[in-house]
Amino acid sequence: MDSSATPPAAAARGATARAARAAALRVAEGPAQLYRPPAPWPVGPQRALLRALLSGERDLITLLPGAAYRSLTAPLGVSRRGIFLVSDPADIRDVLVGRSALFPKNDLMVGALEPLVGHGVFVADGADWERQRRMIDPAFGHMHIHRAFGKMAEAVSGGEAMLDAASAAGHPVPLEQTMSRITADIVFRTIFSQDLAGETAHRVFDAFARFQKTVANVELRRLLWSRPFARIPQPRPALAAAGEIRALLADMIATHRAAGRSGDIAADLIAARDPETGTGFTDTELVDQIGVFFLAGHETTASVLTWCFFILGEQPEAVARMRAEIEAVTYGGPVEFAHVKRLGFVRSVFREALRLYPPITFYARVAREASRIGPCAVPRGAMILVSPWVIHRHERLWRDADRFDPDRFSAEREGEIPAGAYLPFGMGPRICSGAAFATVESILILARLTRRYDIRALEPGTVRPVARLTTRPACEIACRVARLA
Ligand code: HEM
Repeated sequence: MDSSATPPAAAARGATARAARAAALRVAEGPAQLYRPPAPWPVGPQRALLRALLSGERDLITLLPGAAYRSLTAPLGVSRRGIFLVSDPADIRDVLVGRSALFPKNDLMVGALEPLVGHGVFVADGADWERQRRMIDPAFGHMHIHRAFGKMAEAVSGGEAMLDAASAAGHPVPLEQTMSRITADIVFRTIFSQDLAGETAHRVFDAFARFQKTVANVELRRLLWSRPFARIPQPRPALAAAGEIRALLADMIATHRAAGRSGDIAADLIAARDPETGTGFTDTELVDQIGVFFLAGHETTASVLTWCFFILGEQPEAVARMRAEIEAVTYGGPVEFAHVKRLGFVRSVFREALRLYPPITFYARVAREASRIGPCAVPRGAMILVSPWVIHRHERLWRDADRFDPDRFSAEREGEIPAGAYLPFGMGPRICSGAAFATVESILILARLTRRYDIRALEPGTVRPVARLTTRPACEIACRVARLA
């Protein structure tokens, strides 16, 4: 962290902050036996830079110096446009809630995603975004999630068939790819009432994997050198993959409309009308929104589930507790919608994995005008980063910040969650529309697969996280999957 731009008035605050940090560090000394899942060890800025360069990754997690996990709002390194890492919960609220209109989604990120999602709700801004949000939110209401539950359960059965076959043959299973297939299947079934086995759906899935690999998002080189608000060309393969996905989605929407299907998200979107104007989405806007749901809905959930199962492979006691809870709640029967809210420990495991590995590692915003954020003078065009990765591991905010401790989310320890410091689904008006949907599907998948299999990484020592479109393992995690009786 570069503190050179800190104004003199902040010096006294700095001394207080150091004292608070020392106190917080004492609090952070927790029981030695808690498991520390993979994350870069905190090092100084030079070693962090060297580490990022040597790893060959365009990755911000590896680049973060240890001080990032102790500082509050401050400039981050040296760059052409100015980058600020906002980690004080009061400043986060200011950026994401209080003055959110002054800090819209970052131009680098919008430029990277636009080829895929057009002007859809994830990247839109102002009145256009408000209209879109009014129209899509009803599709994620409680009743709609209840309706989608049966389709989620069918997709999990498909995942179980894959895992049963791997278990019987003794083949290793690629964890991330498996989670990605199950969550993509859920997205297709709930949006289009169609499974991933269909040819078009399969082609979308493949093209999406290509888009994700090649798209230049908020990455190191661009962060350091790009000018604010400059249009940056995207790599050809990413543009080609995005174009292919959009054409396939347009076909799927046309087929869906022609068949007059109902009872799924596509039908909800086709029927949606703006309560203020009475107009619906155009065909292009429908592709934009469904592109958003695919982008925002499947990789994110796959990412957190990958980390859940990786951690559980190292934590047999947590697995035993989950199994006992699942049996107590379901009486050995199938996992039903009504059980989900009663699986308290399973939910705590999910929430703790979201804390340690928030799928969206950085929320990138841009300063529309020059202003101040906390102690920092922020120029127009500066990149503003709110990082749940950093905040969720902040030494001044959390006890045993980098340890796996699902019970911190138990009702008994409710007071331990620091206010405004847990935001895996974002905060303020741009909070995730699909949070309840994602929570229900994740708890269902966790419950069903944990009860049925032992899943363990073959080489847990080699696993390390990187920030791409989502927080994911640098390399695929090969697992041994054994079906229980
Ligand atoms: C564990 C899974 C998920 C996580 C952690 C997650 C996280 C997030 C976050 C952090 C944002 C806000 C980003 C920002 O402020 O810059 C967001 C936005 C969004 N998410 Fe999710 N998401 C998940 C699953 C889903 C699912 C399943 C859907 C829908 C099928 C979905 C749909 C959306 C949409 C439409 C937005 C844009 C909201 C707006 O800008 O108004 N997400 N998500």
